[in-house]
Amino acid sequence: MLALRGRRVLLGITAGIAAYKGAELARLLVRAGAEVQVVMTPAAGEFIGRLTLQAITGREVRQSLFDVSHEAAMGHIELARWADLVLIAPATADVIAQLAAGTARDLLTTLCLASEAPLLLAPAMNQAMWRHPATRDNVARLMQRGVRFLGPADGEQACGDVGPGRMLEPAAIADRVGAHFGGGRLAGRRVLLTAGPTREALDPVRFLGNRSSGKMGYALADALLAQGADLVLVSGPVALPTPRGAKRIDVESALQMYDAVFAHVAEADIFVACAAVADYRPGDVMGEKIKKDGAERLSIECVRNPDILAEVAALERRPFCVGFAAETHDVEAHAERKRRAKGLDMIAANQVGASQGFEADDNALLVIWEGGREATGRQSKVRLATRLTELIAERFDAQTATQNP
Ligand code: CTP
Repeated sequence: MLALRGRRVLLGITAGIAAYKGAELARLLVRAGAEVQVVMTPAAGEFIGRLTLQAITGREVRQSLFDVSHEAAMGHIELARWADLVLIAPATADVIAQLAAGTARDLLTTLCLASEAPLLLAPAMNQAMWRHPATRDNVARLMQRGVRFLGPADGEQACGDVGPGRMLEPAAIADRVGAHFGGGRLAGRRVLLTAGPTREALDPVRFLGNRSSGKMGYALADALLAQGADLVLVSGPVALPTPRGAKRIDVESALQMYDAVFAHVAEADIFVACAAVADYRPGDVMGEKIKKDGAERLSIECVRNPDILAEVAALERRPFCVGFAAETHDVEAHAERKRRAKGLDMIAANQVGASQGFEADDNALLVIWEGGREATGRQSKVRLATRLTELIAERFDAQTATQNP
């Protein structure tokens, strides 16, 4: 990770159980060539030893605002100026609240107030604390001020709960820090992406599904992460590993996908709808398995699912919206009509059928936006994802520049 060579990272560690991962994070940053100065809050010492961090970083760990010898050597204001980046991992609910309020009661929060360096926070807390309206407000306030959040991830928590609040793994945090310095085109942009198929239940054992493998969506997730995006991936059922650093939310049905998207859309700068969402679902889901009972025919009455992409695009405060279109004929005309009808900023169309599209490893895309188009030619989904990500970043930047000249 060349981008980190010689960079000065002030690593804040606060008092959460994930603090023990601070040692691994410090090691990764140092190994990537960064100079790392650890600053712990007074209580963080209950979770990780100063000696460990000192041995890894080769620098004395700072903890107190009123340490005479430290202040004589490099005072807190100097330290605040020294940093190219302030990274707090783990960031507890309490430190997030203090930062939102602008208090300076210990060395770390004082440094944050005194530093003009970008601030990255990797939250770690119980899921109920993360969801609490007070924390939501604090996070929103900090985001408005340009503070960037890495995670949290969903999953099992030290307290036994399951939900959002786990700190991202140290390797994923180190990658993001690298992307920050490497000037990834989407560094700090929050992207919400849907991928994979949906399953619409008929009865407890059967569903209506489709052939989407999720390969295109997952390749796109990797490409977005490589450009430094902060990614929430809402995924239908697929047999693919979670891209490193993505916050993945697993869903089955279109309605579940809708709920997951709308739970995160307010925080997204860019929404990419790559999932193959069922347009219809069975109107009545049978509580018990449907029996043959000698019938020769079976009719299933379906009802319309909400169009997730169209509803996101219709929001008053909406992210940059990218859709996909799978067409068997007249690709450009259908795709452009779809782009206009749904009010999208960009649409990526592909021809399906004849071993192209679903399940295949390669594909060709026609990408259309207001006033422009690009036909990619047939290539691997990984290369397509990289090119599409570049186009998204370009168009997003162009649009942001027009809105905030
Ligand atoms: N989409 C969505 N929610 C739905 C249906 C589609 O978000 N309920 C999104 C898909 O993720 C994709 C785009 O909308 O980005 C596809 O649009 P759609 O009109 O469904 O395309 P087709 O299925 O190709 O439409 P049609 O069957 O009308 O050709």
